[in-house]
Amino acid sequence: MGGGEMKYIREAFESNWIAPLGPNVEAFEKELEKFLDNEKYVTAVSSGTAAIHLALVLLGIGGGDEVICPSFTFVASANPVVYQGATLVFVDSEPESWNMSPVLLEQAVNDRMRITGHLPKAIIVVHLYGMPAMMDGIMEVAGRYGIPVVEDSAEALGAEYDGKLCGTFGNYGIFSFNGNKMITTGGGGALISPTEKDKRRALFYATQAKEPFPYYQHEHVGYNYRMSNVSAGIGCGQMEVVHEHIRHHRRLAALYQELLADVKGISVHGNPTPKHDSNYWLNAILIDPEITGTDCVEIHRHLESEGIESRPLWKPLHLQPVFKDMPCYVNGISENLFAKGLCLPSGPWVSEPDLVRIVNEIRKCIRK
Ligand SMILES: Cc1ncc(COP(=O)(O)O)c(C=O)c1O
Repeated sequence: MGGGEMKYIREAFESNWIAPLGPNVEAFEKELEKFLDNEKYVTAVSSGTAAIHLALVLLGIGGGDEVICPSFTFVASANPVVYQGATLVFVDSEPESWNMSPVLLEQAVNDRMRITGHLPKAIIVVHLYGMPAMMDGIMEVAGRYGIPVVEDSAEALGAEYDGKLCGTFGNYGIFSFNGNKMITTGGGGALISPTEKDKRRALFYATQAKEPFPYYQHEHVGYNYRMSNVSAGIGCGQMEVVHEHIRHHRRLAALYQELLADVKGISVHGNPTPKHDSNYWLNAILIDPEITGTDCVEIHRHLESEGIESRPLWKPLHLQPVFKDMPCYVNGISENLFAKGLCLPSGPWVSEPDLVRIVNEIRKCIRK
């Protein structure tokens, strides 16, 4: 927490706006719009997952449709496709940003057309760990085939690609404000829309699709996805420190990169091209066991024994039992990342001396 959050929560209590609407919700949306240079319209919702779901609803995704999704991502990127009764088509990563490969994306689009006779109805692109995907290539393929893009920027608040903020490339974008994200509302998310009309439609579906009648009239299925005024109060307080948080994450990334630079066989995931400007939401390393004589499992265990939390990279979704029947286009990259990668502590609670200690503990595992 930045310190200012309680003021907004107190205001919510004092004014009795304890509901999924109120002045904090509107103020939080305005702050997010300002953050996005007032080029987009923001709808605050109850989670990032809800925001992805709403984006799919607004795009009219339904049964019989196919939606392309990266395999290397958190399951929340994919689940809303299943909520809509559509089929997931997984596409593997390229090795530089670790996000969806534009080359494989195009192969998948062509192959789906060959097999089903239809284009996929949407592409979900994810900026994993805050590292922007190769957006030039992805937007070029999407544009050429006329497929809408949903940009899952859950982890990428403040990250930029070629000077443009992540979340603003796609037809729709989303952020997550879960407890572990760049800023939090204690659970929440936002849908980023291109027009005010889209925002009005998003609000309609996020508030049970109530038709404008004096009584309750429903002509569509809606959802209870609006953010509460209390949560949005936390968000307003967090927006006062958002730039500080992003700076801190980037400073930690630079330190990890500097302090691990001389360790052969460990590479810190950094901006792969001059166009990339990650927010480094999570810093991640790849460990080559042949060179280091250790591996991610051993380092993970050692860090744990020292009271330091680390996590394996995401297990690719094409390997998840729940998605075993979904078509996938793979090249081995995400499986390699899963086998060799580890996420390291990266939040505002990690101080520079903490980071030095973490790196020293990692070094103790190196055997070669
Ligand atoms: C890549 C990605 N997409 C979607 C989500 C879903 O966000 P939420 O937890 O707010 O539903 C998350 C985070 O949890 C995420 O990391």
